[in-house]
Amino acid sequence: MSHPPKILVFDSGLGGLTVFTEITRLRPGANYIYCADDAGFPYGAWKEPELVARVEDVIGARIATDKPDMVVIACNTASTLVLPDLRARWPEIPFIGTVPAIKPAAEGSKSRMISVLATPGTVKRDYTQNLIAQFAAHCRVNLVGSTHLARFAEDYMHRGLVCDEEIAAEIAPCFETRDDARTDSVVLACTHYPLLIDSFRRLAPWAVTWIDPAPAIARRADQLLVEKFGAEQSDAATAQGRAIFTSGRTAEPTLRTTLARYGLTTP
Ligand code: DGL
Repeated sequence: MSHPPKILVFDSGLGGLTVFTEITRLRPGANYIYCADDAGFPYGAWKEPELVARVEDVIGARIATDKPDMVVIACNTASTLVLPDLRARWPEIPFIGTVPAIKPAAEGSKSRMISVLATPGTVKRDYTQNLIAQFAAHCRVNLVGSTHLARFAEDYMHRGLVCDEEIAAEIAPCFETRDDARTDSVVLACTHYPLLIDSFRRLAPWAVTWIDPAPAIARRADQLLVEKFGAEQSDAATAQGRAIFTSGRTAEPTLRTTLARYGLTTP
């Protein structure tokens, strides 16, 4: 390929930046578009058929305009639902999804008590139930659907706001004890949550392994890019790209500065 691959990274908001960061570490020379469907945020409460249609519309519009070589759905709530439809509709484009990292959590847990912290949508999905049946049948899996955490992560990114009490209340159900055992691993099954990881570590009632699948997703994306387009060519120190918001909003100064740290400009 003569030009760098164009990669579209998509989420309902800014959570997908946690995946974007890991991909850009491996592929700093790619051409990036980060699309946040902020007009549809939060995805956690959407009914399934409507969400499938919504994501197809937004991705379809971006494919028509930007013609990406690869699409990364950096959103568990969408990936656990719409990947088969996207792949069937655009078979020529590789789609990489983000799904709950239940397998590594179950493999690494010593107490065999793991929690999956996700949006209410992701905890309800058949896809999530299947992952548990397939990889974690030997564990007690506690599904925690958080209504507010994705919004708290957005507030942090847009305005630098965090409220310890509110965050502590949202993560508290992840921590369970049973006889002499207690939860030792928590899957971060929403891409927004690693944005708050410092608060989670500080506010957790005891230390656990927090599992963020972003590095593994980035390795998978890189592997596919190598197969299709060859190895990374650039020795650029940081990636560059454009951020697009479906609301058409103009980013406020704090958000502009935050996005600039990721190498992203806004229109
Ligand atoms: N970042 C998204 C995820 O990984 C969802 C956040 C939301 O829209 O509720 O699930």
